[in-house]
Amino acid sequence: MNFYVMTLFPEMIEQGLGTSITGRAIEKGYISVKAVNIRDYSTDKYRHVDDYPYGGGAGMVMQPGPIFDCYTDITGSMEKKPRVVYMTPQGKVFSQSIAQELAKEEDLIFLCGHYEGVDERILEEIVTDNLSIGDYVLTGGELPAMVMIDSISRLVPGVLSNETSAQYESFQDGLLEYPQYTRPEEFHGKRVPEVLLSGHHANIEKWRHEKSLERTYMRRPELLAGVELSKKDKAYLDDFVDKMEKGLQE
Ligand code: ADE
Repeated sequence: MNFYVMTLFPEMIEQGLGTSITGRAIEKGYISVKAVNIRDYSTDKYRHVDDYPYGGGAGMVMQPGPIFDCYTDITGSMEKKPRVVYMTPQGKVFSQSIAQELAKEEDLIFLCGHYEGVDERILEEIVTDNLSIGDYVLTGGELPAMVMIDSISRLVPGVLSNETSAQYESFQDGLLEYPQYTRPEEFHGKRVPEVLLSGHHANIEKWRHEKSLERTYMRRPELLAGVELSKKDKAYLDDFVDKMEKGLQE
């Protein structure tokens, strides 16, 4: 899968995604990340890419010309025009299901804004998806683009060395992940739950699923509305809630 990022800070993208798992995925050729500097498409002798807003007001607005030329350069030799994602707090909030949908694309372009915004006409012309990473305002679109590229990349076959791990982690089945333990068996007086030491695969799976249910109920109960619980799960949770209410749980 190929990611293209139109940005004023290409080194931020290259450094951020060039390390750890995404870095290895780039090296191995599972994904490619090309950060393209919008400033290289300025036609101004001072390499300006922004100007004052028509109608007045604070801040500067990114001009449409350099962004359009940058986009044309990226897509010029492509047969099919890829989706263009604009990072904006005005967009739909990014989620695991959006990551899954975007992971099906062969090419994706991200447009990172800065200053007070981007000229509306270029957004109308090239952007297919407006996405946000949450209801807070950042100084630019680079971090959101990196967040999205990271979460989409890990869904690309081969990127995670353990193929099953993308499947099992939090959100993939709508539930939060169960707690994990490693050595030592006892730490500060707390023992690893016995079932995990038992080697009994079915019991371990059952315990993990129950912990996922409990954890989702305790930490993100609103997620349960989007999950199809089996009769057994519902009964387990009802029982858990009962015990909680009676103060028998931790
Ligand atoms: N640009 C500034 N803030 C943002 C946010 N929360 N999500 C996406 N892009 C942004």
